[in-house]
Amino acid sequence: METVVLKVDPLNPDPDVIGRAAEVLRAGRLVAFPTETVYGLGANALDAEAVARIFDAKGRPATNPLIVHVSDVSEVLNVASVWPECAEKLSARFWPGPLTLVVPKRAELPEVVTAGGATVAVRCPAHAVARALIRASGIPLAAPSANRSSELSPTRAEHVLSGLNGRIDMILSGGPCSGGIESTVVDVTGKVPRVLRFGLITVPMLEEVCGKVEVGATAGVARSPGQLTKHYSPRTRIVLADSVVQVYIELLRLKREGKTSGVMVFSPLLGVDTPNWFRLMPTDAEAFAACLYQTLHECDCAGLDAVIVQLPPDTPEWSAIRDRLVRAAA
Ligand code: TXA
Ligand code: MG
Repeated sequence: METVVLKVDPLNPDPDVIGRAAEVLRAGRLVAFPTETVYGLGANALDAEAVARIFDAKGRPATNPLIVHVSDVSEVLNVASVWPECAEKLSARFWPGPLTLVVPKRAELPEVVTAGGATVAVRCPAHAVARALIRASGIPLAAPSANRSSELSPTRAEHVLSGLNGRIDMILSGGPCSGGIESTVVDVTGKVPRVLRFGLITVPMLEEVCGKVEVGATAGVARSPGQLTKHYSPRTRIVLADSVVQVYIELLRLKREGKTSGVMVFSPLLGVDTPNWFRLMPTDAEAFAACLYQTLHECDCAGLDAVIVQLPPDTPEWSAIRDRLVRAAA
């Protein structure tokens, strides 16, 4: 199929463009669109055949459930059967925004969306294009990140096109995503909320609203299946370094092996031969997140054997970035 790319103003989306994309979605077809985290690949969440097309286009395992996007909290009961008190509090504080809440699923929601599970992940995105699109189509949108399964998430329309050209119907091209990494996923079906995926909404931010939260999947409770596999990976091999000294050591080791290498570090390297590729990364976690995937996409284009990445500190505001880097290096 031909993938149609339509330009759209990220702040003031043209209703005609949004209308065309909404029509495609209502016809059971796929549209990639920008959100404040990464680009999503949307389909009508209430149409099992349309949702199956997402799994096909991405090569996504059927065991990995999707996030359903709504334009307002008043729409959650179209896909969820219960809206727990904790979901109410968290959505009141962080929606629209980069927070996904896992709640009991409504029976009418097709099983393909939730990979046969009894819960559904719901998010209300903040991006004007995403919101306008959900409203105009009048349906909840199932949307994973718009990349081939296990590859890097797209933060620009070009990334979507390079991964999914010819496999999806339309891309709304609305510029770079400001957040840069995927939403925080929190399971609120139990007594204590459980963070299943780190994101820009940090653990301290959640705890300020709903008290103590637990972190990570444990046996017997809901998990994020997507978190169990190799994920968020660029093609270039990633080598993690805990310190600048470690960066130097890895750089020399790769050179001795005759490998080309890049580095992503927090301060300029002094007194060594320049690496083949170099990026100075922001020391602010939000700014780092905003450019992380774009930088890794650029790194892939450079065709290096490996890239050495200096790890940020092990503090709550960096958890999501450390998580993505560790997975990318796995
Ligand atoms: O920021 C985001 O969340 C982006 C944008 C497009 O909204 N979406 C995104 O979707 O990252 P995806 O499919 O790439 O990641 C969804 C994650 C996966 O790890 C999946 O396993 C988990 O959410 N998930 C979905 N439904 C779940 C459920 N019912 N229970 C537990 N985890 C779930
Ligand atoms: Mg993804």
